[in-house]
Amino acid sequence: MNVLQVQNLHKSFGGIHAIDHCSFSVEENSITGLIGPNGAGKTTMFDLINGLLTPDEGHVLIKNQNVTGWPTYKRARLGLSRTFQAIRVFPELTALENIVVAFKGHPSKLYQAFVPLKKKNRDLEKRAMEYMETVGIADKAHLRAGDLSYGQQKLLEIARCMATDADIFLLDEPAAGVNPTLLNTIKQLILKLHQQGKTLLIVEHNMPFLMSIAHKIIVMNFGKELAIGSPEEIQNNPRVLEAYLGKKREE
Ligand SMILES: Nc1ncnc2c1ncn2[C@@H]1O[C@H](COP(=O)(O)OP(=O)(O)O)[C@@H](O)[C@H]1O
Ligand SMILES: [Mg+2]
Repeated sequence: MNVLQVQNLHKSFGGIHAIDHCSFSVEENSITGLIGPNGAGKTTMFDLINGLLTPDEGHVLIKNQNVTGWPTYKRARLGLSRTFQAIRVFPELTALENIVVAFKGHPSKLYQAFVPLKKKNRDLEKRAMEYMETVGIADKAHLRAGDLSYGQQKLLEIARCMATDADIFLLDEPAAGVNPTLLNTIKQLILKLHQQGKTLLIVEHNMPFLMSIAHKIIVMNFGKELAIGSPEEIQNNPRVLEAYLGKKREE
């Protein structure tokens, strides 16, 4: 079954067709790579899938529901979550607090007025701590998130996605700028999420990393899908090589 479908999607910024009638689908419980040269439209595609942007044409389907035009929070309720190419943790909160704020049904002020606050917070922190342990940064729980290393912040972002009860993860360059030790931690985490039945769509420039975990690769160029296939098929596709060596969008 496809849990995510992009149908004839189009998005222009002024004269630039950032996404140019692009279609593809992502199978349930797959690890799918989304690659392409800089400017190919990958981040814009993530923005359209999670509802930060609205397409000019075409549709986005999540679990066979047409969610085109839905706000991000409603898509999140269907199990969609996403990390950003440029990290977006709350730097002034502790790492642990960054997870707590992601929980569904985080108690409102009104609710807190009726429930013993300390106990409620203890329970939330205990649950948050479990996610910190899963991604391997439990010892950093009480540090300011902004003081974590770049790679640790990436892990924190993934933990935050997990805390929303997501089952579809969009990861924008999870391996970029991460040292080899943390890279392996991120890889193991992705494989663990897959084992748990989650679906992952991953934008990544680190090809050895992506090719070693992905079942299917979608190649974008000039806002369109250029090729879709197994890592082997993609590595041996002359059109893909040409796209990477070839001309930039402006030329
Ligand atoms: N908000 C925006 N305004 C204008 N142009 C944009 C905007 N966002 C992206 N673009 C353009 O759309 C194209 C695709 O960008 P992007 O999705 O960031 O590509 P990628 O993530 O594959 O590098 C690029 O030409 C980029 O300059
Ligand atoms: Mg990008």
